[in-house]
Amino acid sequence: MAWQMTQLLLLVLVAAAWGAQVPGTPRARTNLLNVCMDAKHHKAEPGPEDSLHEQCSPWRKNACCSVNTSIEAHKDISYLYRFNWDHCGKMEPACKRHFIQDTCLYECSPNLGPWIREVNQSWRRERVLGVPLCKEDCQIWWEDCRTSYTCKSNWHKGWDWTSGYNQCPVKAACHRFDFYFPTPAALCNEIWSHSYKVSNYGRGSGRCIQMWFDPFQGNPNEEVARFYAENPTSGSTPQGMGPLLLNLTQMLPLWLLN
Ligand SMILES: *[C@@H]1O[C@H](CO)[C@@H](O)[C@H](O)[C@H]1NC(C)=O
Ligand SMILES: *[C@@H]1O[C@H](CO)[C@@H](O)[C@H](O)[C@H]1NC(C)=O
Ligand SMILES: *[C@@H]1O[C@H](CO)[C@@H](O)[C@H](O)[C@H]1NC(C)=O
Repeated sequence: MAWQMTQLLLLVLVAAAWGAQVPGTPRARTNLLNVCMDAKHHKAEPGPEDSLHEQCSPWRKNACCSVNTSIEAHKDISYLYRFNWDHCGKMEPACKRHFIQDTCLYECSPNLGPWIREVNQSWRRERVLGVPLCKEDCQIWWEDCRTSYTCKSNWHKGWDWTSGYNQCPVKAACHRFDFYFPTPAALCNEIWSHSYKVSNYGRGSGRCIQMWFDPFQGNPNEEVARFYAENPTSGSTPQGMGPLLLNLTQMLPLWLLN
């Protein structure tokens, strides 16, 4: 018992000492819960939005998006990002609804704090990286989009924007989604430059973020954010210190035995 306490104490001390100043590690946000990222359309603070539109309505009780943003999230080439879903002919409605839901999650969720990272981009100061998307949400997204067409596997970069909305660059040919995204993980992880990292956990586990949820049961992502805020090494995004700390935890018992 005593050695376990010593081990724990040592670990905490080591973590505190290293966490305080690690060269090259951007200062982590102090508040990971109930926050909005500093990006293009997010509100400064989350709060109630009684009339959020259709697919964004699950976030009505507490949202980072305005009503305007929630309406625009449902439009093609909306004022949000001028993004053209139909860049290789019409995207199937069954597929498009996942992109609308993905936009609602990104714009509205106040539960992405543990995955917010600073970026040096002209249009936003923060992004999310490695959000552990529940495996079923990714699987269904991929299945519903298989038969739609696209010309790229990373939709953040490399478009031709000369017309004011994104079009396929000349060298990128249109193929079915499953050509550019052979697996569900390829779709969810690659499409937005690793904003998501598909989780091995499933819906309802409390360990992965749900893009789709029934608000009458509450927002299941609150618990997920709380878990990863308290256990930053247990999941999808090692924050630089993660792997080292893990190593230390493995080594400490050996020191103590000697
Ligand atoms: C949302 O706001 C933008 C900028 O003010 C405006 O151009 C757009 O028409 C608004 N959309 C809706 C649905 O009100
Ligand atoms: C951020 O980008 C600007 C302009 O591209 C550049 O001048 C600056 O050095 C960059 N800062 C960092 C920390 O990379
Ligand atoms: C963890 O320790 C092993 C050897 O015990 C080493 O090879 C590995 O690079 C270490 N990993 C990290 C992230 O420090």
